Amino acid sequence: MVTVIANLKGGSGKSTVIFNLALWLKEKDQLIMAFDLDPQGTLSDVADVRKDEGLEALEVLTDVEEIKNHLDKHVLVDVGASNMQDMKLAIKLADRVLIPVSPSQPDLWATQRFLKIVKECDSEDKPLELLAFINRADTHTMVRESDETEEALNTIKAIQVLPHRLCQRTMFRRTLSEGMSINEISPNSKSAKEFNTLASALYADLV
Ligand SMILES: Nc1ncnc2c1ncn2[C@@H]1O[C@H](COP(=O)(O)OP(=O)(O)O)[C@@H](O)[C@H]1O
Ligand SMILES: [Mg+2]
Repeated sequence: MVTVIANLKGGSGKSTVIFNLALWLKEKDQLIMAFDLDPQGTLSDVADVRKDEGLEALEVLTDVEEIKNHLDKHVLVDVGASNMQDMKLAIKLADRVLIPVSPSQPDLWATQRFLKIVKECDSEDKPLELLAFINRADTHTMVRESDETEEALNTIKAIQVLPHRLCQRTMFRRTLSEGMSINEISPNSKSAKEFNTLASALYADLV
């Protein structure tokens, strides 16, 4: 299954989520192949951090054409808006697109614009699942922005909204800087619980 994580907004947590998903699947002894098609190269950089720290390696490929050679595995693809050509090619090969959305109006607008691009790429021959979820939700329940953003996402027919939010937490930031998965850093933390719930929903047949 090819899962592409994308949207037009930088900083929405694409690399953080795909990195943690890749390691979550490895922790479950699954065969995976990770692709970094974003010129920012965050996923490649964080894989290098793992190597430097002597942690179990995460192999990362950067050629979109290689995706076809790994369809027997869980393929995870990180793409950014600065490489629209690869983004479109990856979406054409995808079974599903995972769309992290930060709770704000500009992020919502960017998501709507992104969906238009996805529609242009959607080939008729295989159905493409579009899954959105809120990342960087405020931990204070008084703040309504996450609820409002999720409600707005729910009105968009083309996407399925996963009700499993990730909050804005330092622990998620540490995963990238330390090259470790959330379960390697702090398996009993709130962040790990949030992440594992999301990952389990995405790979329901593994749990
Ligand atoms: N849920 C979160 N809580 C705290 N920090 C986050 C969260 N998600 C992402 N970040 C941080 O935000 C920054 C951008 O995230 P990143 O995954 O690189 O986004 P993208 O790949 O979409 O540009 C990084 O510093 C990352 O650690
Ligand atoms: Mg990134």
